[in-house]
Amino acid sequence: MTSEQAVTSLGGGTSAEHALVVEHLTKRFGDRLAYEDVSFDVGYGEVFGFLGPNGAGKTTTVRTLGTLLAPTSGTATIAGIPLSAESAPAIRARISIMPESPGLYLRLTVAENLECFARLYQLTDVHSRIDRSLQAVNLADRANDPCGSLSKGLRQRVALARALLNDPTVLFLDEPTSGLDPVATRDVHQLIAALRERGVTIFLTTHRLEEAERLCHRVAILNTTLRLIGRPDELRKQLFTRSLEVRTRSLLDDPGRVFAGLADVEHWERSPSGPYVLSVTDPDAAAPGVARALVAANVDIISLTESRHSLEDVYLELVNEDVEAAKR
Ligand SMILES: Nc1ncnc2c1ncn2[C@@H]1O[C@H](COP(=O)(O)OP(=O)(O)O)[C@@H](O)[C@H]1O
Ligand SMILES: [Mg+2]
Repeated sequence: MTSEQAVTSLGGGTSAEHALVVEHLTKRFGDRLAYEDVSFDVGYGEVFGFLGPNGAGKTTTVRTLGTLLAPTSGTATIAGIPLSAESAPAIRARISIMPESPGLYLRLTVAENLECFARLYQLTDVHSRIDRSLQAVNLADRANDPCGSLSKGLRQRVALARALLNDPTVLFLDEPTSGLDPVATRDVHQLIAALRERGVTIFLTTHRLEEAERLCHRVAILNTTLRLIGRPDELRKQLFTRSLEVRTRSLLDDPGRVFAGLADVEHWERSPSGPYVLSVTDPDAAAPGVARALVAANVDIISLTESRHSLEDVYLELVNEDVEAAKR
């Protein structure tokens, strides 16, 4: 499958309906291409995953949409405001970015750090905002601890609290769990899920598949160019033909005769690990006929199941394609 075939059409959204509209955006650093011809949109209240390996261009995209870097070409609208040098302050007031590393003052307390940033953003009601942000990340009881005394996971939560201070219309989270242990990762996932419940629009970059699959309404796969966009379940369907896996007690004498006559079966093969794998358009429609054919052939069925693919399979398929393309 080519990347052109793979990228689904997004149906021309307008900036009024979308928190982000990105059209043909490209960023070069000299002759190095960070990302190229990237187009997508993100609805209000959506958690949008930006998934890709290291060096794919995720952080550079966040920095561009966050007005920290000017794009080389293309356009974007962020929280309803067209991206330009002049509009950058207005955009920055409506968004926030949680960067890959938290960047806190380690000698200051949690509350002092937040206060510092709240004043930098020129926010009003600083103390009530700090209280709300700390409650949102379950850190109210650590307000007076120096940031230097916190674990990496808790520091990440302080960074998330900081990003919530200005009630952003769009929240950018750049690899929010990178380098965290499984427990801290789970905590951050729960916090993001809670923000999702509250309807916060989130642009989440990650190289972790299960994170994208678990937290995001839609996922875009980036590797300098955009390879795919869709709901996690759509991506799986789009890339893989559906199949039935049949395990039998003994090998079939003539599997071709048993399977080839079935109208619902497009193709069959025996997988190296043992079962017969049948490509079908509709597993539910095909399964009864397959079972009847096996019984008629006097074969004992051990199992007959639809094989499912994870987003990881989809992702690895794309990455492998890239590796193959690079060898040419
Ligand atoms: N300031 C910069 N100057 C030159 N090249 C850069 C700069 N920032 C990023 N790049 C390059 O752009 C590409 C994408 O980087 P990045 O956006 O950080 O990827 P990711 O966040 O997906 O790991 C990489 O090849 C990186 O080396
Ligand atoms: Mg990055």
